[in-house]
Amino acid sequence: ISNSIMIFLLFLISFSFGNAASINKTETDLSTCVKEFYTAVYSENYNCTSQYNFASNNETVAQKSLISGKSCALEILGKACTQSQFTEIFSKFENFVKSLTTEPKDKNCIDSYYKYNALKCMESLNSLGEKSKLILQMQPKINDSRVLKLIDQCEGFKTCMSSNCYYFKTEVSIVSFCETVKMSNSEFKACEWKIERESPDLSEYECLEGDDFYDPAILNKYRFYTKMKDCTKEIMMDICGEKAVVGFEKYAELSADFLIKKNAKGYVGVFKFAKSCFLEVAKPECSSSQYNLLSTKYDDFLKMITEEPKSVTSCESFYFKYNSMKCIPIMMDITHKVVPLAQKHLKVNDSRLVALVDSCDLVKACMSPLCFFNDIEKSMITEACNAIELRNTKFSECISEIQKESPDLSEYKCLKGVDFNSKEPTIQIDKFSKNKACTKQIMEDFCGKEAVENFDEYAEITAEKV
Ligand SMILES: *[C@@H]1O[C@H](CO)[C@@H](O)[C@H](O)[C@H]1NC(C)=O
Ligand SMILES: *[C@@H]1O[C@H](CO)[C@@H](O)[C@H](O)[C@H]1NC(C)=O
Ligand SMILES: *[C@@H]1O[C@H](CO)[C@@H](O)[C@H](O)[C@H]1NC(C)=O
Ligand SMILES: *[C@@H]1O[C@H](CO)[C@@H](O)[C@H](O)[C@H]1NC(C)=O
Ligand SMILES: *[C@@H]1O[C@H](CO)[C@@H](O)[C@H](O)[C@H]1NC(C)=O
Repeated sequence: ISNSIMIFLLFLISFSFGNAASINKTETDLSTCVKEFYTAVYSENYNCTSQYNFASNNETVAQKSLISGKSCALEILGKACTQSQFTEIFSKFENFVKSLTTEPKDKNCIDSYYKYNALKCMESLNSLGEKSKLILQMQPKINDSRVLKLIDQCEGFKTCMSSNCYYFKTEVSIVSFCETVKMSNSEFKACEWKIERESPDLSEYECLEGDDFYDPAILNKYRFYTKMKDCTKEIMMDICGEKAVVGFEKYAELSADFLIKKNAKGYVGVFKFAKSCFLEVAKPECSSSQYNLLSTKYDDFLKMITEEPKSVTSCESFYFKYNSMKCIPIMMDITHKVVPLAQKHLKVNDSRLVALVDSCDLVKACMSPLCFFNDIEKSMITEACNAIELRNTKFSECISEIQKESPDLSEYKCLKGVDFNSKEPTIQIDKFSKNKACTKQIMEDFCGKEAVENFDEYAEITAEKV
C-alpha cells in the first residue's frame, strides 16, 4: 500500500501550483531518453558501464564518469534516444552532463535537473525490484556479493530520493522497502530458505495445531508471521539455532508486510473475480493458484473480506488489508489524470479539475474506515488531496494567471525589488508569510476581490507546501 501512496504523491506534488512553472519551451525535453539511459545503466546490459559510475549520487563522481566515459554514454544514448534527441545531446554533450549533475544554485525545483534526477531514482527503484526478484529466487548465502550490491543500491536510492524536489515525506515506505532488501542478508532469511530447501518433518510441533507449515498459500504464510509467529520462532530456533531469531519480531513484521505488498495486484484480481470463481461460472478467469486458494479456503476468505472484526484490537486483520485495496485504483486514476495537467494554466471549475476533486472525495471516503490506512498514510493522502482542492480556487487561478502573464509589477514598492514570479523556495515562502500583505494587494489588483477570499488560510497552506 505504501508504495502506491508513494507513486500517488510523487505526481501530486508536482501538481501544487507552487511548482507548476512554465517550462522553458526552447529546451528540448529529454525525459524519455534520460529514463531509458538510466534503465540501461542499472540493468548493466552494456559491458562498458561497469568501469563508470554514471548514476552516482555524488555529482562530482557522476559528472567525471560521464565525461571520461563519453563514448560509453553515447553508445547507450544512441539506443535510448530518438534521432533528434541524440543529435541535441551529441552537439552539446557537456551541457547535457551538466543538466544531469549540477543542481541549479537557486534550488528552484523546476529545472530539468530535478526531473532527470527523479527519473534516475525511479529507474533505480525499478531495477532494484527486478534484480531482487532474480537474485533472491536463488536463495543466496549470507554476504553474497550480489546481495550486498543490492543493499548498497537501496541505500543509494534512499539518498537519491531524499535530495530530490519531486519527492517528499516518502521516507517511511522507502525505509521499509530497503529493510526488506537488507533482510535477505540475514540469518533469519537464511534459516527460512534452509527450512524450505530441506523440509524437515515438523509433525511433532504441538504449536502447529495440525496446520501445515509448508502450505505455500499466502494466507497460510501470513499467519505464520503474525498470529502463529511464536510457533515459527520456536521452529526456526530449533533448526538453525539462536542466531536465526535475532531481530525476529522485526523480520516477521517486515515479512508479513512484504507478502501483502507483493501480492497486492493479485489480491485486487482475486477480490474482483472472487464471486464468479466461487460459483465456478468463470473458472477460466482465475489463475490456477487463485482458484486453488479460493476453492480450499474460500469460506475463510469470504469471511475475512466481508465480516468486519467485531472488536477491533488491532488493525492486523485481513479484512482491513483486503478492503483497503479498493481505494488503490482510485488513487492510481487520479495520478494518471494529474500528470498531464501539472504544468497547465487552469481556471476554476475546469472540468478536469472538478473531476479530480470528485475523485479525491471518493478516495477520502474510501480510506476513512478505521484501520484501512494508518495515520501517516491518511495524512499524506489528505495533504495531496488538499493540494488538488486548492488548485480549484480563484486564489490559485490568480497566481497561475500572474505567472502566465508576467505583468510589470515594478511599481509595487512592497515587493522590495523581489521578483514576484521567482521559483526560489525562500522567496515563495516569504511571499505567502512575511510579505503576504503585499502579495494579497497584487492579487486583488490583478484578479479582483474574489481571488483573495480565504487568503490567509490558503497562503498558510501554500507557504507550508513550498
Ligand atoms: C531558456 O533556454 C534558453 C536556451 O537554453 C536560455 O538561453 C534561456 O536563458 C532560458 N530561459 C529561461 C527563462 O530559463
Ligand atoms: C560483453 O561481455 C560478454 C561477456 O564477457 C561478451 O560475451 C560480449 O561479447 C561483450 N559484448 C561486447 C559488446 O563487448
Ligand atoms: C564526492 O566525490 C569527490 C571525489 O571523489 C569527493 O572528494 C567528495 O568528498 C565527494 N562528496 C561527497 C559529498 O561525498
Ligand atoms: C558477513 O560480513 C560481515 C561484515 O564483513 C561479517 O561481520 C559477518 O561475519 C559475515 N557473515 C558471514 C556469515 O559470513
Ligand atoms: C464553480 O462551481 C461551483 C459548483 O457548481 C459553483 O458554486 C461556483 O460558483 C463555481 N465557481 C466559479 C468561479 O465559476
